[in-house]
Amino acid sequence: VNFTSDNTYGVAAPIMDAIVAVNYGAVGSYGGDPWTARVVCQFCELFEREVKVFLLPSGTAANALAISSLTPPHGAVFCHNESHILLEECGACEFYSSGARLVPVSGFAGRMMPLELNAAIAKYSGIRNDLIPAALSITQSTECGTVYQPDAVAELCSIAHKRGMAVHMDGARFANSVVSLGLPPAAVTWRAGIDILSFGATKNGALAAEAVIVFDTDRASDLIYRCKRAGLLLSKMRFVAAQWEAYLADGLWLRLAGHANTMARQLADGLRGVADVRLPWPTDANEVFCLMAGSMVKRLRDAGASFHEWTTVGLYASPFEPTPDEVFVRLVTSFQTTQDQIDIFLKLAADD
Ligand SMILES: Cc1ncc(COP(=O)(O)O)c(C=O)c1O
Repeated sequence: VNFTSDNTYGVAAPIMDAIVAVNYGAVGSYGGDPWTARVVCQFCELFEREVKVFLLPSGTAANALAISSLTPPHGAVFCHNESHILLEECGACEFYSSGARLVPVSGFAGRMMPLELNAAIAKYSGIRNDLIPAALSITQSTECGTVYQPDAVAELCSIAHKRGMAVHMDGARFANSVVSLGLPPAAVTWRAGIDILSFGATKNGALAAEAVIVFDTDRASDLIYRCKRAGLLLSKMRFVAAQWEAYLADGLWLRLAGHANTMARQLADGLRGVADVRLPWPTDANEVFCLMAGSMVKRLRDAGASFHEWTTVGLYASPFEPTPDEVFVRLVTSFQTTQDQIDIFLKLAADD
């Protein structure tokens, strides 16, 4: 039973088949192939408008390059204090933006709150020696496994836009959030005010396929140069495009994410019934966070279960502050998680 990450699993069969199927003949390189052209049309249809698309091999590249196109080197980029761009991308946003600063903003369960965002922006007047408030980045679904409703996204976007800032969404698990909300992708992105989206497929069954989707097509005119300069404009782009084509065809992306979300919900519901397990946040997508007794963690690990211990930074000053006996863990389900894995884990957890 492996709940360490959705990255630990392989590639969904239709996506692997699609990679093999495009492995013939000579086509245009660097995105000049028919599959890339078709995928751009698929994205326009999916988002119900014209969009610019940049296909990339990793989520960190998508985030960092997208954000670098929104901020000058002397810009401040506001993000949640548990965000992946802040904690787990080795300073990639700062690097690719030639030094813009990521400014952490707190908020319960991975979601930034308007009050905290306003307060954080207010510290940057943008005059003389100060950084300019340049961009906001929010994650959907969040690093805490929760999801922003469209009106919450719209409120944050409106605060940012009033200050002339652009808004980026880190959608490494965008599919899981779309399934969870049951809304069209447009409703939680550009219709709510998002200017640029990092849309991930790798965690949800692709091999290496991420995309930066630019909604305001006047923006990010330099992104193609940024991709090339970073060494991330892939010459054999058809293999990334083929993954996207298969991923978006016939709703495969929603079926894969739907399965992962269902598994996570079952895991969370089961754990709620186990004595000495506390879940601080709702399980909106495919990640379950819980406090467990240290002895339970040991029993699960001894029996072969894998999962990560997680930072407790988001629990302080809440009723879920850990006791000395408790360990905070993250359990991630994927498109390949099986019912058996959930049942085995719950049985082990309950086995006192
Ligand atoms: C929320 C979030 N954003 C971005 C990424 C970055 O993805 P990658 O590992 O492909 O660079 C991850 C990966 O764990 C993530 O969880």
